[in-house]
Amino acid sequence: MSTVKEDRIVLEMQHISKQFPNVLANEDVSIQLKEGEIISLLGENGAGKSTLMNVLYGLYRPSAGKIILNDEEVEFSSPKDAIEKGLGMVHQHFMLVDNLSVTENIILGSEPGKAGIIDYKSARKEVAELSEKYHLEVEPDAIIESLSVGLQQRVEILKALYRKARILILDEPTAVLTPHEVDQLFLVIKKLRDSGVSMIIITHKLEEVKAISDRVYILRRGKCEGLRNTKDVTKEDLANLMVGREVVLTVHKEKKEVTGDSIFNLENVIVKNEKGINALDGLSLNVRPGEIVGIAGVDGNGQTELAEVLMGLCKLESGRIYYKGEDISELTTKQRRNKSISNVPADRHRFGLILPMTISENMVLGFHDEKPYVHGINLALDVIHNYSEKMVKDFDIRTPGVDIPAGNLSGGNQQKVILAREFSRNPDFLLVAQPTRGLDVGAIEYIHSQILKMRDRNVGILLISLELEEIFSLSDRILVLYEGKIVKEFVPEETTDKEVGFYMTGGKKE
Ligand SMILES: Nc1ncnc2c1ncn2[C@@H]1O[C@H](COP(=O)(O)OP(=O)(O)O)[C@@H](O)[C@H]1O
Ligand SMILES: [Mg+2]
Repeated sequence: MSTVKEDRIVLEMQHISKQFPNVLANEDVSIQLKEGEIISLLGENGAGKSTLMNVLYGLYRPSAGKIILNDEEVEFSSPKDAIEKGLGMVHQHFMLVDNLSVTENIILGSEPGKAGIIDYKSARKEVAELSEKYHLEVEPDAIIESLSVGLQQRVEILKALYRKARILILDEPTAVLTPHEVDQLFLVIKKLRDSGVSMIIITHKLEEVKAISDRVYILRRGKCEGLRNTKDVTKEDLANLMVGREVVLTVHKEKKEVTGDSIFNLENVIVKNEKGINALDGLSLNVRPGEIVGIAGVDGNGQTELAEVLMGLCKLESGRIYYKGEDISELTTKQRRNKSISNVPADRHRFGLILPMTISENMVLGFHDEKPYVHGINLALDVIHNYSEKMVKDFDIRTPGVDIPAGNLSGGNQQKVILAREFSRNPDFLLVAQPTRGLDVGAIEYIHSQILKMRDRNVGILLISLELEEIFSLSDRILVLYEGKIVKEFVPEETTDKEVGFYMTGGKKE
């Protein structure tokens, strides 16, 4: 039951601008929040969402504009001021102390008790009551590092509630959750709303805007591009507002018969991590030409090691790797790449690009010592330059030229440079890890279409992604990776994200 006066405005940000040395991150943005209301801030990466909320939370001073809280103008010089006035924020990256308990984390900085003696018992009791009241079940004595990400998030929310937050800001709260955890979070959010808490939820996911919020503000390049009632707006409209042009949301993937022998096989692969634990624990899989095999899993279940062992970047403890029937287990990375195996790595800054080097240099990275990029002992600069210009055109890389550092490009365009380099070598097998992490809808659309193009050219593709939606929209087969093993195989059309999510967490309910 709602105890809320529907239309009372609890918070207003008026004409907020925030100038950073090089970027105008917010420009004349105004938002209103009503009591017991949930609003979304929707926008692509870099649109200025976190900045706006950090301004609200007292982390940044606005360059212009004002904040009105319960009809009173406020100026926060730190989050402490904001918290005192009833604001709470759960950041994208949690700010918990790993080796302290749930209760200790929650009370940290506002410990109850007199004369420096912390009254842990009453704190623990209060935490337990809060967690029951809002369905935020979590063991008060558990140590943070032993908790799943979903549970850690609950602790962050409890922490804000313990400090009596009446306005709660959640920055991309679902980015780290499994589908089941997302459902649970949404229940909590609704429960909070019913008790009169107002919420601002930052997201770049259109589904979520529709599922959870009453109204949505769309930010683009620091400016507010619109305000909509979520029940009156379609996902397509939202995407167009967010990107500033027409966007195709659904991936058009035609069902394809895949026949023939597999091109890539892993058999009983064991790889140890630095702690000596089996990160891959007897993993077997195969990929056939012309199919996309998607690896679904919660982060940390062996994704990194799987990618590394495929490319020869880590030691194979036991098991074999076959490519086109040949045992390549002992080959170096370079030897594998020369056999037309391409790789779009998950960490594009560490492995994909050298940011201070130019776009042209990055385009031939790893191949610069091969024809046609060398003449004798010299780099064939004109060849490289022309090739790069063609790639920039073919892959729609937005840049003033090919001789500027790759680091000057936006994330989406950096990723396109890697794609251009890896895809244009006519690979027969492609390892693609996290291809769209941190990218905006427009870039994602483009990258997905390019991956499908490679599939239609009969390339065998292994896709590792933490985005279940991406796995579903691209894969012909889905393999669930859990604790270093493939525990289940699905055909996307015959399953649901809930079912896959269930196996991703080891088939256990929380
Ligand atoms: N502390 C900072 N210093 C300088 N620039 C920043 C800072 N924080 C964010 N920016 C820039 O401001 C813009 C908006 O960033 P942000 O608010 O994080 O976007 P979003 O949360 O929508 O992804 C980006 O161009 C970003 O690089
Ligand atoms: Mg952000």
